[in-house]
Amino acid sequence: MRAVTFSRLGGPEVMEVSNLPEPKPGPGEVRIRVAAATVNPTDISFRSGRQFSVAQLAEMGVKPPFIPGMELGGVVDAVGEGTPWRIGDRVMAIVNPRRPGGGAQAELVVVPAASVARVLDGTSLEAAATLPMNGLTVRLALDKLALKAGQTLGVTGAAGAVGGYAVELGVSEGLRVIAVARPQDEALVKRFGAATFVPSGDDAIRRLYDAAPGGVDGLIDAAVLDAAALPAIKDGGKLATVRGFAGPSERGITITPVRVTSYVENHDALDRLGRLVGEKRLTLRVAETFPPERAADAQRKMAAGGTRGRLVIVF
Ligand SMILES: NC(=O)c1ccc[n+]([C@@H]2O[C@H](COP(=O)([O-])OP(=O)(O)OC[C@H]3O[C@@H](n4cnc5c(N)ncnc54)[C@H](OP(=O)(O)O)[C@@H]3O)[C@@H](O)[C@H]2O)c1
Repeated sequence: MRAVTFSRLGGPEVMEVSNLPEPKPGPGEVRIRVAAATVNPTDISFRSGRQFSVAQLAEMGVKPPFIPGMELGGVVDAVGEGTPWRIGDRVMAIVNPRRPGGGAQAELVVVPAASVARVLDGTSLEAAATLPMNGLTVRLALDKLALKAGQTLGVTGAAGAVGGYAVELGVSEGLRVIAVARPQDEALVKRFGAATFVPSGDDAIRRLYDAAPGGVDGLIDAAVLDAAALPAIKDGGKLATVRGFAGPSERGITITPVRVTSYVENHDALDRLGRLVGEKRLTLRVAETFPPERAADAQRKMAAGGTRGRLVIVF
């Protein structure tokens, strides 16, 4: 089977397409014939070695060739014992690429049955591939923030994949969402349901604070402002961070680093996200598709910034 791979860490040029042995599902696992797998910022961290060295990956049992990718849409193609899935089911799945079997950007991917959820009729597999990883990230962030309906949720990076789902899921839970995004993204984040828009820039955090008098109750910081975002939050409020920032805090604010890998087998949460798409409460966005041979170009394009919607590798 063909897979996007890299055997050493470095720039986009280390990426290639390799022919690898077909993986086989064990008990409790399914094999998915992948139609589409997205490109996410974490793929760049993995490939560049920003997070882990080759030696650290080897200690985790992850050896070259490495396969990037954390989410996919496809069709169940083989099942292990004891799974509820049937060959031919249209599904989406979240994958932790830092595992011996590698990530999502391959023609065939084996995952635990609990990492899989159904794709409803009317949703394409390309669009479905954009949901699992970033949708579950926001689900986890909201679970950790544990805000009540009527409270205010601030979202930075609100036009991005995490930020967009944060706005829509927050709205669907009755939160008053204040979205921070680039000035040109105002119409987009308002379509997602943001009650108030704050243009990003030097005074965005002060304006976010002012928009929720006394500060927001909770903040999902998808733009990775980290400590710089704290002044927008009320005394005793909560901050969900996405790149590991854990403090120091101030004014009794609880800082919760979110790691989606802890939800990688949360089937029920993924299934509910899929249903919200069916109810038109979550918007799936595909910016552009690429063949596997152009995965490096897709990463370059994402790294340049400004893309709205996900770049998707189509097999
Ligand atoms: N911890 C986890 O489990 C987890 C899971 C998923 C994602 N993440 C992380 O979450 C972050 C967001 O991911 P994503 O996929 O949503 O990225 P994305 O789609 O690129 O969205 C990020 C958005 O933030 C904007 N932005 C970035 N820096 C900004 C700044 N300084 N000021 C204003 N706007 C800024 C970007 O605008 P431009 O495009 O115009 O620059 C973009 O709209 C990434 O760092 C990713 O690695 C973590």
